[in-house]
Amino acid sequence: MQNSSVSPLFIQRYVENKAEVRAELQQGLLAKTATTSPKYLYDALGSRLFEAITELPEYYPTRVEASIFEQFLPEMAAAAGLGHTLIDLGAGNCEKAARMFQALRPAKYVAVDISVDFLKQTLTTLQRQSPDLPMLGLGMDFSASLELPVEIGAGSRMFFYPGSSIGNFTPADALPFLQQIHAACRGQGGLLIGVDLVKDHTVLQAAYDDALGVTAAFNRNMLMHINQLLGSDFNIAQWQHRALFNTELSRIEMHLDATEDLSVRWDGGERRFAKNEGIHTENSYKYTVESFMQLLKNAGFQAVKPWQDANQQFCVFWAKA
Ligand code: AVJ
Repeated sequence: MQNSSVSPLFIQRYVENKAEVRAELQQGLLAKTATTSPKYLYDALGSRLFEAITELPEYYPTRVEASIFEQFLPEMAAAAGLGHTLIDLGAGNCEKAARMFQALRPAKYVAVDISVDFLKQTLTTLQRQSPDLPMLGLGMDFSASLELPVEIGAGSRMFFYPGSSIGNFTPADALPFLQQIHAACRGQGGLLIGVDLVKDHTVLQAAYDDALGVTAAFNRNMLMHINQLLGSDFNIAQWQHRALFNTELSRIEMHLDATEDLSVRWDGGERRFAKNEGIHTENSYKYTVESFMQLLKNAGFQAVKPWQDANQQFCVFWAKA
C-alpha cells in the first residue's frame, strides 16, 4: 500500500560562519606555500563541473566504482546484512545510494550533506519513489564531527562513503575520521567505502588533467568562489592548472600556478605570487588494497572485505564494526 502523505524529515545542523571562512582562507593564502581547502572547489558551478568530470573518458573512478557496485551488490548485501539505517555521507544527488536500496533493503535512509538545501529536491523525489522508506536529510559538516542527532534512530547503522572522497584526507586525518565512524556504529553494522587505488602514473595524471580541460576549469573556478567568499581580486586568466602524482606521499596534488608575477588583494590582506608560484588546492590520496585494509583495522573495524574491478583500478570495502 502506498502512503502518499509520507515526506522526508530535514534537519540543518551546520551553520556557516562567514568570519571563520574568511579567516581560514586568509591563513591558507598567507602560508609559505599558499594552500586552500578542496571544499572550496564546490560552489554551484564547481559542483556541476565535478559532475562533468565524472563523465570524462580519463576520469575512471566514478565509472569503475559503479561497475564494482553493479557486479558485487548481492555479495555486499550478504556481507553487510539487510535492514540497516543507511547513512550516506556526502549524499549530493543521492544517486549512488538509491541504486543500493533494492539490494540492501534499508530500514531508513539518512542523506548527509553540508546543506539540506542540496538535499530537499532530491530526497523529496526519492521519497515519492520509495514511500515506505523513512528518509532523513541532515545538513552537517561530518568531516568536522560525526555527532548524529537522535532523530537518526536506534537501528543498526550502515555508513556509506563512496567516490574515494576519503582521498581528500591525509592518512593521518583519515584514521580519526574512520575511528569516529566505527564508534558511531556502536558495535553493529559497519562501513561501505569506495577507495581509489595506486596505479600507472600516466593513468592517474590524465584523470586529473584531462584533454578537454574540465578539471582545469574545476580547479580554476575555485578562485572565482574565493573571490566571492573573501572579496579577493584573483584574475582567473593569470592562473594555470597543474596536477601531479606525488609518489612518495601516494597522492595526486592539484595546484594553481601564477603565470606571471602578480598580487592578490582582499579587505585586510594581500599576497604576492612570483611567476610559477603555486597554490596547493587539493590532495587525492591513492591506496593499495592492503594499506587501506590496514587503515580500517587500525580504526577498529573487525573484519574487512574488499571488491575490485578486473583491472584493479578501484576498490570497495565492507568494514564490519
Ligand atoms: C571527489 C575528492 C573524490 O579526488 O578524485 C576530481 C575530486 N578532483 N578531479 C577526486 C576531484 C579533481 C575527487 N573527489
